[in-house]
Order: sequence, then C-alpha cells, then structure tokens
Amino acid sequence: MAMTKDLLDGVDQLDPLPITIQTLLTKLGDDFVSPREITRVLEYDQAIAAMLLRAANSAAMGARVRIERISDAVAHLGLDRILSVAMGAHMKSMSRPVEMYDLSENDFWLHGAVASVAAKEIAAAAARRGVEVPKQATIAALMHDVGKLILVRYTDVDMQAVVDLAREDGITFVEAERRLLGFDHAEVGGAVAEKWNFPDDIRDAIARHHDMPVADPTPMTDTVTLSNVIAKTVGVGVGAEGMNLFADRLSMKRLGLRFPDFARISSEVMSQLDGIKQLYGV
Ligand SMILES: [Fe+2]
Ligand SMILES: [Fe+2]
Repeated sequence: MAMTKDLLDGVDQLDPLPITIQTLLTKLGDDFVSPREITRVLEYDQAIAAMLLRAANSAAMGARVRIERISDAVAHLGLDRILSVAMGAHMKSMSRPVEMYDLSENDFWLHGAVASVAAKEIAAAAARRGVEVPKQATIAALMHDVGKLILVRYTDVDMQAVVDLAREDGITFVEAERRLLGFDHAEVGGAVAEKWNFPDDIRDAIARHHDMPVADPTPMTDTVTLSNVIAKTVGVGVGAEGMNLFADRLSMKRLGLRFPDFARISSEVMSQLDGIKQLYGV
C-alpha cells in the first residue's frame, strides 16, 4: 500500500525550510566554506543568531569568556552544531505532543538531539579507524524520526493499534506500522526530506534508518541506524517502540567499530545528556 493521500497532502503542505537553514545545508557539504561566509549568512537572521549565541554560551559548550559576537559563536560551535541547533529549533516549532508514541514532546525531540550527538561520536571513532563518515550524518540523525511528527499531524491512523500489534505479536514497531498502515515512519520521513530538498544522502539515511539489514549500506546509513540505537540505549525516546532495536554487528564492522566502542560511545553520550539538554534548550 502506498502512503495515503492525506499523508502526502500533509507533506506537501509543510512550510519550506527557512532560507537560512537551506543555505547552511548547502554549505555543510562544502569543504572549503569559510567561517566568514557562515557568519554572513547568520547575520541576516536575528532569531537564529540570538539562539546560537545562547547555545555558544551554554555551560555545555565550556566557553571561558562570554561570547557576544556571531563570528565567535561560529568559531566555537562549528557549522554542523550550528545547523543542528537551528534545525532543531525549527522542528520544535512544528512539533506537537506525540502521545501516540508514548513520548512527550520533549522526549521525542531529545531523542533526535541525542542521536545527533551519537552520530558525531561515531564519526569521530570511525575516523580513527580510517572510515570517513560525512558531516551530514549529524543532521540526518537529528531528523531521522521526522516522519513520526507528520504521521501524528496529518493522519488519523490508529497508532494504539500499531502499539498493540507490536506487543501482541512480538514484532518491531516499524514492522507493525508496515503491516497495519502499509508504510512506516521512516518512509514518511524520506518524503519530508525530499519536500525540504535535503541532500540525497541525508534523505536516504532517514528513509532507511529501520532497514535491517540495510541494502547497499553507506557510512551514513550505518551511522544513523546506530545513532538511533544509542539514543535508545541511553534511555531517550524509548516510548512505545520499546528497546526493540539492537546494534547491528555488520554496521559497526563497516565503520571499523566493535562492541566495546559501542558501549564507550553510549556512555560518552550519556555523560553529555545534561549538556545536550542545555544546548538544545529542552
Ligand atoms: Fe525511527
Ligand atoms: Fe528513532
């Protein structure tokens, strides 16, 4: 079954991403972008600029002196974190309580933020083993469950039935979604990413974050899938889905990681939890 018309209409009606975020997204893929160029983009958007100054001065970022200029915030945060914070605020503005997933709005949002930090840690660990993960993985991880927001907003699907089926038949939540709805929230997320003109590799990683095993894996799909598992391992965003995911050994292997790395990254992310809440204002 294809996605329902209501759902496709819903995706279609989404406002486009703010221009600042769109511009930053294109710069994320550009290895030669200068901090000055990023500063110039941000100076035109006072709301985002103010938010970034707050994030740069949060205790989590450990600035020794007060950061008052956007150029200093850019140097301190880096483009991927800037984009995560800006995108996060945008997502938050369009979110509503997602009770049917047994998650409060904050937990839902925090789940993406934690997955994003996990993606950064995974990328750093993989880099030490000679595997390169694109920087965009942090954004894909942040946004990986965006499809859930749209399902809640634009359909009247009975999510309780999905939850019940998963529990009764002992299947994963996404399997239950597929059986009852004919599609899952990852597919819906892929449609949103397309609507928002996300780069192809981000859209692909969102659309396939529950494929296990994933066909034609990339460092990006492996990182996003593992980030989701880590966010759940540290207890954020478990909700109705439950702890029904596991770290795929092959995904880890392709990234040059072993189980002790997974455990270390999980505890590293756990230790950053308060900081993540501060940075993203949740
Ligand atoms: Fe998901
Ligand atoms: Fe998730």
